[in-house]
Amino acid sequence: MKFVIPRGRLMVNSMNLLKSAGIDIDIDDERKLVFRKNGNEIILPRARDVPVYTEYAGDIGICGTDSLAESGADLFAPLPLNFGICRLSIIAPAGYTIEDLEGMDIATKHPVITEKYLNSREIHANVIGLNGSLELAPETGIADAIVDIVQTGETMRKNHLVEIKKIMDIQATLVVNRVSQKTKYDEINKFIEMVGEADGNRKLCEKYTGRY
Ligand code: PRP
Repeated sequence: MKFVIPRGRLMVNSMNLLKSAGIDIDIDDERKLVFRKNGNEIILPRARDVPVYTEYAGDIGICGTDSLAESGADLFAPLPLNFGICRLSIIAPAGYTIEDLEGMDIATKHPVITEKYLNSREIHANVIGLNGSLELAPETGIADAIVDIVQTGETMRKNHLVEIKKIMDIQATLVVNRVSQKTKYDEINKFIEMVGEADGNRKLCEKYTGRY
């Protein structure tokens, strides 16, 4: 089986999850991107590229629900996981409300979700795509507000910003290649069952796979 695991914040939990399902491959070289053992393979792209790698080169991936929504990849998402819990929110200097966003510049690493949200609210704003450290955008005047991930809220507060509206809740999720779902049906279900057993996700497995 080919597993697509994100580098970065979700990596440790993701590797522990694989271990709990009996897939124990040591990631012993920071610069290597593919690891193989006992017929299994782990590939390690950046978090936001997990959906596309799972769609075109993997069987099972782990990514945030935000990365999945942002990518538009056609994947089966059978099991939400109990980590990577955070939210995607509109954040601005104190005093702004959502009505103030009309005509403003909004910086984000999530342009697809942001555009969709603004369209659904009929807010006409200019979305600026950036790759990180978004809190710099209001500070330097390149944007009025940002759409960014809030976990503890610490980064936002340290940069004198406040959350004005949550757009979506985020958590890690298992994603499955739709072809593999058919051609490796038994292996994939067995993996999902083992993850459920090991990680206290039994209830979620019941709900999402109907296999218990
Ligand atoms: C994320 C996010 C915020 C921060 C939120 O950035 O974009 O900046 O974490 O976390 P907090 O609410 O716990 O403070 P990340 O560290 O992934 O780096 P980046 O901004 O360079 O993408």
